[in-house]
Amino acid sequence: MERLGTLPADLAHAAELLRDGRLVAFPTETVYGLGADAAKPDAVAAIFAAKGRPADHPVIVHLASAEALADWADPVPEAARRLAEAFWPGPLTLVLRRAAGVCDLVTGGQDTVGVRVPNHPVARALLRAFGGALAAPSANRFGHISPTTAQHVIDEFGDEVAAVIDGGACPVGVESTIIDLSGPEPRLLRPGMIRPEAIAQALGRPLLRPHDDEGPRTSGRRASHYAPTAALELVDTADLQPRLAACARNRERVVVLARSAMPDGLHKVVWSLMPGQPVQYARRLYAELRNADRVRPDRILVEAVPDSSGWEAIADRLRRAAAKGG
Ligand code: TXA
Ligand code: MG
Repeated sequence: MERLGTLPADLAHAAELLRDGRLVAFPTETVYGLGADAAKPDAVAAIFAAKGRPADHPVIVHLASAEALADWADPVPEAARRLAEAFWPGPLTLVLRRAAGVCDLVTGGQDTVGVRVPNHPVARALLRAFGGALAAPSANRFGHISPTTAQHVIDEFGDEVAAVIDGGACPVGVESTIIDLSGPEPRLLRPGMIRPEAIAQALGRPLLRPHDDEGPRTSGRRASHYAPTAALELVDTADLQPRLAACARNRERVVVLARSAMPDGLHKVVWSLMPGQPVQYARRLYAELRNADRVRPDRILVEAVPDSSGWEAIADRLRRAAAKGG
């Protein structure tokens, strides 16, 4: 995989590769995306092959600006215009009824399409240089942790992907908030770092919550997602000490992600001190989980995060990572 910089010549080369139907990974404010020309079915098919992703899982279409919405969605409801106005460019994906001609691979065969205008300067410059829309899921193999650096993308794919544009670490760190506006009521499908209250306020109406047992199939809603290789366990703060003592008795090698410092006297424990604020926590989370895996631990213990506004996306991803079992 070519590792490209962010100079205009790098982005022109990346745009050329995309026009040739090749895959180019690029930074967004949330996570790195694995991009392909959204208008070329063969190019979009290559995303599914590289990720090992089932064909009925739709991919998000990334646009340079909200003006291109009407090419992908029909109708564009008033609610979509409001949210675009309030949050784009930014980490928000809208699910809308698809326009005629949007390829089935992009929509996963459904009658809706997910669209967003990203807010990373490199993603925006790439979209402008390319001149079209980019289909891009997170640049990881199916079910694994999303990448937040170019090195993570290289670690995932090696030479199966033509190039990655190295734009440094992603500032948000977890995937976009997804709002479904294709039905009668707006519904939150995946929490992100934009708070649901802010979205409800911009809409002027309440948001329905996700139902994991109904609606269209979306890969990020499956329980066992965003998972490291080692078994991950969520532990309440009060249970952390006894759980560690039990691991020590079993001679397990453990990595801990906690918001407080490591107590004295622990052996075979790698302690990762996590930030106390959700914005900083989210930015670090996926890199810490990848680091944890590198130690090849028997177990990753993560101190449960607060059950309060601002932590919702983090709590959601940790729950899914833990649901892998083990
Ligand atoms: O922040 C993000 O959203 C990142 C960056 C690269 O933009 N992308 C991302 O893509 O997380 P992906 O494919 O890993 O997750 C997108 C989620 C999936 O769960 C997918 O099924 C869902 O969005 N999705 C996409 N189109 C949809 C649609 N038409 N209806 C329902 N869900 C949809
Ligand atoms: Mg993903």
